Amino acid sequence: MLISIGALLASWTGAEALRRFLAPTSDASSHAHDLGPLDGVVADGARKELTIGGTRVLIARRGNDVRVLDLTCTHARCPLEVHLPSNRIRCACHGGAFDLEGNVLNAPPTRPLPTHEARVVNGNLYVRIHQEHT
Ligand code: FES
Repeated sequence: MLISIGALLASWTGAEALRRFLAPTSDASSHAHDLGPLDGVVADGARKELTIGGTRVLIARRGNDVRVLDLTCTHARCPLEVHLPSNRIRCACHGGAFDLEGNVLNAPPTRPLPTHEARVVNGNLYVRIHQEHT
């Protein structure tokens, strides 16, 4: 019986956390998106470019750990190009570059790429796009 109550509680708290994650924010500064089954979005160990709600991102996955990098340059907001063979994210506007973790490799950018929140719940991927990053 204790196991059933524990499982029920875990299920409820997971559902409540997901409900809060997906709920619209009062200032409309971010929007949550249900991307469906994680395996259908990106394979384990892989990276993939996507556009979520009009925002270009690079998703990197290790198991259920998902990192979502914004692909807008932090210098003057140009769109970035991902070049996986060199492990770099490049900006054609002024020659800036970032590594695949979003750290600055080449100026003029001084700030790393921002990330967006990601959660995996019951095998589905949910991403909250923060508008202040876009
Ligand atoms: S906008 Fe990317 S380097 Fe200037």
